[in-house]
Amino acid sequence: MSLKVRKAVFPAAGLGTRFLPATKAQPKEMLPLVDKPLIQYGVEEAVRSGIRQIVIVTGRGKTAIEDHFDVSFELEHLLESRNRHDLLAAVRQISDMIEVAYVRQREALGLGHAVLRAREIVGEEPFAVVLSDDVIAAEPPALRQLLDVWERFHAPVLALMEVPAESIPNYGIVAAEPVEYDGTRDRLYRILDLVEKPPRDQAPSNLAIIGRYVLTPEIFPAIEAAGPGALGEIQLTDGLRRLLDGSPLYGYRFRGTRYDAGDKLGFLIATVEFALRREDLGSAFRAYLKTLKL
Ligand code: G1P
Repeated sequence: MSLKVRKAVFPAAGLGTRFLPATKAQPKEMLPLVDKPLIQYGVEEAVRSGIRQIVIVTGRGKTAIEDHFDVSFELEHLLESRNRHDLLAAVRQISDMIEVAYVRQREALGLGHAVLRAREIVGEEPFAVVLSDDVIAAEPPALRQLLDVWERFHAPVLALMEVPAESIPNYGIVAAEPVEYDGTRDRLYRILDLVEKPPRDQAPSNLAIIGRYVLTPEIFPAIEAAGPGALGEIQLTDGLRRLLDGSPLYGYRFRGTRYDAGDKLGFLIATVEFALRREDLGSAFRAYLKTLKL
């Protein structure tokens, strides 16, 4: 097996029910944070982490994603004729940086099922998985931090974050022991067990899985063997659990700020914070926020 991670898989076939009616005719991955669709933040993170081959697992009603990463001749022609080279660069930049392949998930049967759909395209090499609902502001990018762990140990690794007790049932939760890495014992963990969306009193810790993974093709038969789990869905977490008998599985508590853009409140928080960080909008937006009598 080659050891270089060249591909990132983006599951994007979910129905987006939490954002209805906005997602009735529009994929949730295309909801904009300020002026960029959610999925583009994830794709840019992959590119900044050194990965240019993007595999998007789509479903019905997701053609806007394909159009977004494609060339738009009419739009580019119009921008060119109006001398809007700034906007032209903005629409061209991302499609120029990546190679995208699409694979269909015909039924939304769970995250594990979505990852399994990418099996043929991934082939016999390690790969990343990025959940675009989890938007992470970090330097170096969160995925790059995971790839550094991969490059050191050549074992699968997933992103971890401590979550408050009341949110535990929304996540995959791990039991883990700290491992010395980069001179500390509070970032890298060896995973001992994982459970998808446990009730609070059955959770082994408050360390939650966040949507960045570096995996090997061994995950595919493991997902198949696991079958349906929490919520009746085929869960990636259950596939990962099956890997524990073999080589080590690591979790990395990344440095950075994660936004849950799959949740309405999380999405609003991300919108405000990303807008405040923007050079072109930040100061005007901050001035406006200060006028609000809250
Ligand atoms: C998925 C994973 C879960 C993980 C979460 C992170 O759940 O199944 O293990 O903690 O992403 O965002 P979802 O949010 O798709 O229900």
